[in-house]
Amino acid sequence: MITITSKLGQVSAIIGAQWGDEGKGKVTDIIAEEYDVIARACGGANAGHTIVVDGKQYIFHLIPSGALHEGKDIIIGSGMVLHLPTLLEEIKVIRDSGVDVVPRLHISHEAHILFDYHMAMDEVFEQQRAKIKGKGIGTTMRGIGPAYIDKAARTGIRMESLGKNLEEELKDKAQSLSELYGINVDIEKELSQIKEASEVLGETVTDAIELIHDYLKGGKNILVEGAQGTHLDIDHGTYPYVTSSSTTISGALQGLGLPPNALNTTIGIAKAYCTRVGEGEFFTEVEGEVGDRLRERGGEYGATTGRPRRCGWLALRDLRKSAQLNGLTHWNITKLDVLDEEEVIPVAVDEDGGKPVYKELPGWKASTKGFTSFDELPENAQSFIGFIEEQTGVPVGFIGTGPGREEMIIRV
Ligand code: GDP
Ligand code: IMO
Ligand code: MG
Repeated sequence: MITITSKLGQVSAIIGAQWGDEGKGKVTDIIAEEYDVIARACGGANAGHTIVVDGKQYIFHLIPSGALHEGKDIIIGSGMVLHLPTLLEEIKVIRDSGVDVVPRLHISHEAHILFDYHMAMDEVFEQQRAKIKGKGIGTTMRGIGPAYIDKAARTGIRMESLGKNLEEELKDKAQSLSELYGINVDIEKELSQIKEASEVLGETVTDAIELIHDYLKGGKNILVEGAQGTHLDIDHGTYPYVTSSSTTISGALQGLGLPPNALNTTIGIAKAYCTRVGEGEFFTEVEGEVGDRLRERGGEYGATTGRPRRCGWLALRDLRKSAQLNGLTHWNITKLDVLDEEEVIPVAVDEDGGKPVYKELPGWKASTKGFTSFDELPENAQSFIGFIEEQTGVPVGFIGTGPGREEMIIRV
């Protein structure tokens, strides 16, 4: 077994360095084996994190991706917005595969509940944007923006209210949503969903800040699983085509109540190329035949919505910004194998009048699928990795060579 905690330290974080879907789930699952606690910090079920174990695929939306490892403590942090039926369904799917997460699940009492009406609002807001601007953001329709609106407006309902009678509060919400947006809130359904969740999850709601600090003091190793990607960050991303939470390391620490000096390492996850779902600038996007080829080889269809992902090449500008914002100590470059058949691999090294200036690195035209050793990689693949290291100043500690749990080169 690999021993990487000694290199990554007691607290390590996994952060998407592009526009999400970089492969955070897979590396979390691999590293989680050596950690005691795995924590999600922010976002909600807009996330779709895929892992493949013994050929079987699992997609996590709210539960951290390392949850299949028995005996690990699992934290759902204060920064998250939780659609409870989705959470219950996820728990059920994991239980069906023989793993019970409830006894080791700890949900912050400060996390916000995301109701069905938030999803209805998401739809209305997208329609409004399309009407005014000609296009929406292309959200995942999971109610994320509206749940964070309620949080920021201080009208949200938090997990600490799970056992309480929320009827009056929901009636007030229903009235204002009906007046403002013509949304019809099914109060009975919302209440019964809350009741069911409270029966299953009541015991798991806790002061997660105290808990995580107890873990720290007790010397437990903590792995933080970021969601979304740095360029979807509400402050630093390609606004307004972003999500509604802070997706950088700072947001993850805030979402868990961890101080910055608790953190030892931050791994930035980036594909060997680049993808994006939804609207918004994508400097190095390639459409047509090349984009289609990357999409098909990379299986680039959304884990949450099934939407085809837009595909393009790496841009050093975007990687450098991610390294800067997150203080990255390592890269995990994922999906190297997807480029196995490319003749040349363009990387945007500069820009000219808003257009990328590419350097074309030679392809390796050989299979790297399933490789676990750097030395065995074709020379041009090694050079490609070396180029990323040299140009970003961050070492590549992990290289993905396939979707499976075993398909990773680890060189930390
Ligand atoms: P996340 O949201 O960052 O966890 O990423 P997603 O799960 O949404 O998307 C990543 C996709 O790439 C999933 O289908 C993974 O199974 C797959 N994947 C991850 N790493 C690799 C890799 O190194 N090679 C290949 N071919 N697929 C990978
Ligand atoms: P993971 O964790 C990819 C994108 C949406 C949309 C924008 C806003 O799997 O990497 P939202 O529903 O959050 O209001 O949508 O953000 N988006 C993601 N794209 N991966 C994700 O998560 C995403 N979460 C949100 O496609 O463009
Ligand atoms: Mg995803």
